[in-house]
Amino acid sequence: MTEGAKAGVPVWDLFLRLFHWLLVLCLGVSWGTAELGVEYREYHFYSGYCALGLIIFRLLWGLFGTPYARFLNFLRGPGHLFAYLQARFSRATPPEIYPGHNPVGGWAAIALLAMVAAQAITGLFADDDILYTGPYNEAVSDQLAGELTQWHHQLFDGLLVLVVVHLIAIVVYRFGFNERLTAAMLHGRKGLAAFGAFAPLGKTPWLRGLLAIALAAASVWLLLELAPEPVYDEYYY
Ligand code: HEM
Ligand code: HEM
Repeated sequence: MTEGAKAGVPVWDLFLRLFHWLLVLCLGVSWGTAELGVEYREYHFYSGYCALGLIIFRLLWGLFGTPYARFLNFLRGPGHLFAYLQARFSRATPPEIYPGHNPVGGWAAIALLAMVAAQAITGLFADDDILYTGPYNEAVSDQLAGELTQWHHQLFDGLLVLVVVHLIAIVVYRFGFNERLTAAMLHGRKGLAAFGAFAPLGKTPWLRGLLAIALAAASVWLLLELAPEPVYDEYYY
C-alpha cells in the first residue's frame, strides 16, 4: 500500500469542510446571542446573515462544487435508501460503498441545511416586541410577522433535535461500524481499507470556491439592500 493510500483518499474538499465548521460556529454564536437577550440582538442578526450566506454557498457548491459535494451525487431514491439500511444492519451482506455521504447521510444533510435555511429566513421577518425587527418585518402584516416569529422559536427546537440525532449517528458510525466520519470532516480524507478504491478528488478548485463565496456574500448583501426601510414607533423617541 502506498503512503497516499494509507493516509486515505480525499473526499471532502477544503471549501466544504470550512463550510461545515463555520456553520457549527455560526449556529453556536446565533444561539448564544439569542439567549443573551436584546443587548446582543445586533450580533444575533450578523451571525444569522452569516448562516444565510453559508447556506447559499452550500446550494451553489451542491450544484457546481467538487464531485462528492454535489447533491446529485448523494441524493438517492427510496430503493437505495432501504437497500442501504437493510445491508447496514443485517450484517449478512456488506452495504454498498459510498465515498461521500451514504443515502441516509445525504438526506440528513439536506434536512439540516433546510432547517438552518428556514431558521435564518424566518428570522428576517421576526420581531422581538422590544426594539429589534428582522429587515423584512415591514414587508409582511403584523399577524404574519408574529407567526413567523413563533416559527423562528419553534424551528430552533427542531434544529436542536436534528443536531443531536446528527451527533448520535456519528457516534454510532464510530463505535458501531468503525468509521471515523469526524476525522474525515476535519482533514477531508477517508481510509481506503474501509471504503475500497474510488476516484480521488483532485486539486482544490480555488477559483470556483472563491467565486461561490463571492456570489453567496453578494446575495446576502443584495437581500439586505432590497429590504424595506424600517418604520419606527414614536414610542421609541
Ligand atoms: C440560523 C440562524 C439563527 C438562529 C439559530 C437563531 C436562533 C434564535 C433563537 C433561539 C431565538 C429565541 C431567543 C429567545 O428565546 O428569546 C431567536 C430570536 C430572534 N431572532 Fe434569531 N436565529 C437565527 C437567525 C436570525 C436572523 C437572520 C434574524 C434577523 C435578521 C433573526 C432575528 C431574531 C429576532 C428578531 C429574535 C427575537 C424574537 C423574539 O423575541 O420573539 N434571527 N433567534
Ligand atoms: C450546529 C451543529 C451542526 C450542524 C448544523 C451540522 C450540519 C451538518 C451538515 C449540513 C452536514 C452535511 C455536510 C454537507 O454535505 O454539506 C454535516 C455533515 C457532517 N457533520 Fe455536522 N453539523 C453540526 C455539528 C457537527 C459536529 C459537532 C460534528 C462532529 C463532532 C459534526 C460532524 C459531521 C460529520 C462527520 C459530517 C459528515 C457526515 C458524513 O460523512 O456523511 N457535525 N453536518
